[in-house]
Amino acid sequence: MIQALRGMKDILPPLSHKYLTFIQKASHIAQNYTFEYIEPPLLEETKLFKRSVGESSDIVGKEMYQFIDKGGNDVCLRPEGTAGVVRSFIEHKLDRKGGVHRFYYYGAMFRYERPQKGRLRQFHQFGVESFGEASVYEDAAIIMLAKEILDHFNISYTLAINSIGCPACLPDYKKRLVAFLEQKEDICDDCKRRRSTNPIRVLDCKNQKCQRIYSEAPKLLDHLCEACQRDFNKLQEILKSEGVEFVIDENLVRGLDYYTKTAFEFISTQLGAQNAIAGGGRYDNLVEFLGGRPTPAVGFAIGIERILDLIEIDFKREGFYLGTMIEEAIPTAFHLALQKRKSAKLFMEYKQKSLKAHLKAADKHNSRYACIIGEDEFQKGTLWVKDLEEKREFHISQKEFLEL
Ligand code: HAM
Repeated sequence: MIQALRGMKDILPPLSHKYLTFIQKASHIAQNYTFEYIEPPLLEETKLFKRSVGESSDIVGKEMYQFIDKGGNDVCLRPEGTAGVVRSFIEHKLDRKGGVHRFYYYGAMFRYERPQKGRLRQFHQFGVESFGEASVYEDAAIIMLAKEILDHFNISYTLAINSIGCPACLPDYKKRLVAFLEQKEDICDDCKRRRSTNPIRVLDCKNQKCQRIYSEAPKLLDHLCEACQRDFNKLQEILKSEGVEFVIDENLVRGLDYYTKTAFEFISTQLGAQNAIAGGGRYDNLVEFLGGRPTPAVGFAIGIERILDLIEIDFKREGFYLGTMIEEAIPTAFHLALQKRKSAKLFMEYKQKSLKAHLKAADKHNSRYACIIGEDEFQKGTLWVKDLEEKREFHISQKEFLEL
């Protein structure tokens, strides 16, 4: 039997109802914040991710679905959404137009990770990217946007924020950190490797021993330049005045290399090891780095699979079930079904059944109204209806049925 690949999951009903409900609500909220839908391709040139996410990141180093296509191009299934949106933004010359451009997207991302609960090889993100707005109010607005989506679905979380500096302050901090790390030989092998490739990534190492050592390391937040410090203070001030609870996590450095200044994550208080439900931040240098005009940018992505299990949606009875108890009524019922479906959801099976069997099926399909045509109804051109929500029964004409 052919099965889905390891780490790739089908999203079947009823989970797919939750998936769609989530996408619809999140899209609606993003639209209220004036984000517009964008759909970049799932496949991009490998060098796009190498340059943006970074050669030294785990994503590029170990997790890419990379292959040579039939035309000899080195391509890659997108491991995340930001790089493709930035590529598209530059390719369509929006960087030259000036002004603010806001996009949202959702869909599959691919990372060849070791699958475990909450960690898949094909997973789905809902993300937003905002270009052209340098104000830290935009950082605050997109944090509020993510929060509004999570709050709508009653998901509990801790919001962690940090500032990871900019080219004016980060290089100097990195030098100090490397000098500190060079004296520490008992850090793990991953951290030893990162010491030369991407030193600030050591800060979020999960190894307890490393963490004990880093408690004495120079702190990023003590080395911010004036502009980064000012923005970070302002961000906290805005969040506080909007009543948003947050913690400062000075080890929050994110796993992608493009970030500058604000970095944030929403950490679930209901999940196990894979508890990051959303992450994002500012990436003011990426557009220029990929060949566009300097453009400030900020965004986030929510991992949809991680929150689907936490979402509770009550499946209300909805729509119509149409059944016949006699064979001759099937053409009439079929015709009525087609008309009714122009305005409502209707389930019909193309065979006659007993009333009891029909009512059982209507209940199983979660229909609000069970509408049945028996011998008598067929002769009179009527339907017998049971409102399964309000437990009422009545007869109506075919015309009234179409208006119900
Ligand atoms: P990220 O933190 O790599 O950020 O991913 C965002 C979210 O995707 C994570 O918080 C997590 O919920 C989910 N996620 C990541 N990997 C997996 C996986 N293997 N299985 C299931 N869920 C996963 C980004 O991707 C950035 N592009 C976010 C961003 C947008 N920053 C600025 N703009």
